[in-house]
Amino acid sequence: MPVLEQGRPLRVCIAGFGMAGRCHAETWAGMDGVDVVGVHSLRPETEAPAVAAACGPDVPVFGSFAGMLDAVECDFVSICTLHDTHAAEIIEAVGRGLHVLLEKPICLTPEDLIAVRKAVKAAGTRVFIGFQEFHYGQLQATIEAVEKGYLGRVHLAEIEYFNGINPSVQQYWWARTKRVGGSSMLFCGCHPLMLLMNLMKDTRVAEVSAFSTHSSARDFEALEWQATQVNLIRFEDGRIGKVTSCLDSLHPYYWRNSLIGDEGSLIDTRILSRTMMQGLEPQGWTELATRSINDAGVLSPDMFTPMFGRILANLREDAPMPYSGFDAAWEMHRILFACEEAARTGRPVVPDQYLAPPG
Ligand SMILES: NC(=O)c1ccc[n+]([C@@H]2O[C@H](COP(=O)([O-])OP(=O)(O)OC[C@H]3O[C@@H](n4cnc5c(N)ncnc54)[C@H](O)[C@@H]3O)[C@@H](O)[C@H]2O)c1
Repeated sequence: MPVLEQGRPLRVCIAGFGMAGRCHAETWAGMDGVDVVGVHSLRPETEAPAVAAACGPDVPVFGSFAGMLDAVECDFVSICTLHDTHAAEIIEAVGRGLHVLLEKPICLTPEDLIAVRKAVKAAGTRVFIGFQEFHYGQLQATIEAVEKGYLGRVHLAEIEYFNGINPSVQQYWWARTKRVGGSSMLFCGCHPLMLLMNLMKDTRVAEVSAFSTHSSARDFEALEWQATQVNLIRFEDGRIGKVTSCLDSLHPYYWRNSLIGDEGSLIDTRILSRTMMQGLEPQGWTELATRSINDAGVLSPDMFTPMFGRILANLREDAPMPYSGFDAAWEMHRILFACEEAARTGRPVVPDQYLAPPG
């Protein structure tokens, strides 16, 4: 059932006005059929001029999340605040009957993951999680190549994500802490893990192993968590995945995807496929002309437009919401916490035993 009548604008509030929040605000403000009606900023005085520039001079700015929701009539909240408030804010928002787009991660602990799910299911509102990168360019093409069968049955998927979280990074002051940033996987590794889960979505995870380590470069010495974590994931049907979250690389932001199947392979933007079309060299790579993911270390609003369009279509027409729906993202977090436990203990973990999905 559509949840937004045709012809009525979607009234959107935005919480958090950093790199992600500005992109959400500018993207929502530029969309037909959307009114931005309020912004919650952690620094209202400092950020009010930027809010006015992005959303218009009449949009009120609030220092408190609940204060904003008390003061304005809205249908939808985009939550782009720091990680340690995500769980409480989404529970508050759905409790008020609002639809939500929550930036990753959903929360920082397994206990909060269960609590958020309970609240979302009880509220029955629509919740989306911020994985805009699967809705355009290279990663969308990667998922489509698998969904269209160009690689056949993918038995090995290695998704490697490299970034360097050093003092020159805007988010460093909070992301480097355990209390707010969380961990390598919670801050960034959830992105490549979500890609793996989107690629292998027709099976369940049976078991995970994980190991972590840390660069000895001074650039990363103040990170409170082990910056490099490698996760091995065995699926119930026997296929395997490897997810690397390496946040202490000296080279710039970089994804490396290697998907190997029984009809072909895809490595980054090169594909070899026996089923895609006739006439290709059996041993030859075909280069995909697609926007690279490797400019996504710094966000811009155009990266969000395709996902936001799908959210609107989901609310207005019940169109499907692939790649960023709540249930799939929730399951990814469940596997992420199992990987954290495996890295902590040095032992394999069965997610259904460590963090069983609610019945
Ligand atoms: N989907 C993605 O690709 C993507 C990319 C980046 C961030 N994110 C997520 O978006 C959320 C917000 O991240 P961000 O990149 O916008 O973070 P950010 O550091 O740019 O801003 C986060 C918040 O911190 C506030 N802030 C900035 N400097 C401050 C200071 N000196 N004192 C007090 N407050 C200050 C900002 O007002 C903002 O509300 C996080 O959940 C993050 O993981 C998602």
